[in-house]
Amino acid sequence: MTAQFFEIVAPDTAAHEQLRSFLSCEDKSLERFKQCSEFLKLIDKLMMNMDCATTTAYVLSLCGNDSDRYSIEELRTLNPLIGSVMGELLVQNENGDKVISVYDRDRLGSMFDGARYHQTREGGSIHTDNVNIPEAWDYLLLSCLSQGEVGGENIIVDGLKVQQQLKERFPKALQTLEENFMWEMRGVKDALYEAPIITYNDKGFPLFRHLRPYMESAHRKASRPLTKEQLYALDVLDALTNSSENQVRYRMNKGDILINIDAQVLHGRTCFSDAFDAVNFDEYLAGNGSVMKRTMERLWIRK
Ligand SMILES: [Fe+2]
Repeated sequence: MTAQFFEIVAPDTAAHEQLRSFLSCEDKSLERFKQCSEFLKLIDKLMMNMDCATTTAYVLSLCGNDSDRYSIEELRTLNPLIGSVMGELLVQNENGDKVISVYDRDRLGSMFDGARYHQTREGGSIHTDNVNIPEAWDYLLLSCLSQGEVGGENIIVDGLKVQQQLKERFPKALQTLEENFMWEMRGVKDALYEAPIITYNDKGFPLFRHLRPYMESAHRKASRPLTKEQLYALDVLDALTNSSENQVRYRMNKGDILINIDAQVLHGRTCFSDAFDAVNFDEYLAGNGSVMKRTMERLWIRK
């Protein structure tokens, strides 16, 4: 499956051999990982293409058709190392965690009642992850350890194309999106900040910041209701990001890692259900269940 902005790639035999040799030795340091030169060449190529916006989103398929090629523990070893060769891993919550597990904590949890998106089974709300902190960062890495029983397709949206459509067909909405909105730092700090939904980098490429429920909640907390112009602009943006012509849908499997420029590729997922008796990662590892919940590991990276 390809689209101009999205590509699925896989390591070649030499890169796999290096990873296998790394995983079988005692030393799991970043320094030792950097000896996997063939694999790192591939990561370098992806970063270069993302930086010049030729391709802004990749799925790096580590397991391919062989879901046993790497174990869950091995994937968990590799995720932070891959992130660390791409840049600095950022803290994502009040506990100081730099690798976050994305899974449904409780079937009753909802973003609309204050839960964070990554702790629910909800779909929708196409967004960027860089909404909780005002500082910009670069890459999102989302690594699939286990898929759910049903649903949970990743929706990957071409932000550059969406901005182009706004510019050509909805200039009034675009202008509003380039002005400040309120944001909350949900899960990181009890504070609000202001920032536009669309800004531009030094090459003139658009950068998005968008997760509507968090932003609406910030406006409520600040007692600053969204204006008619803001509501119109948000509705136009949501309509465009939800249009199939701007999306790729891909159901990730174990060993698939979505790597993208967070501010240029909006993402979401369809709702999903875990198996009836699925357990979380810790319980699964402890032998307290035979099926694991849909689980992704998420990293935020500043280059
Ligand atoms: Fe996300």
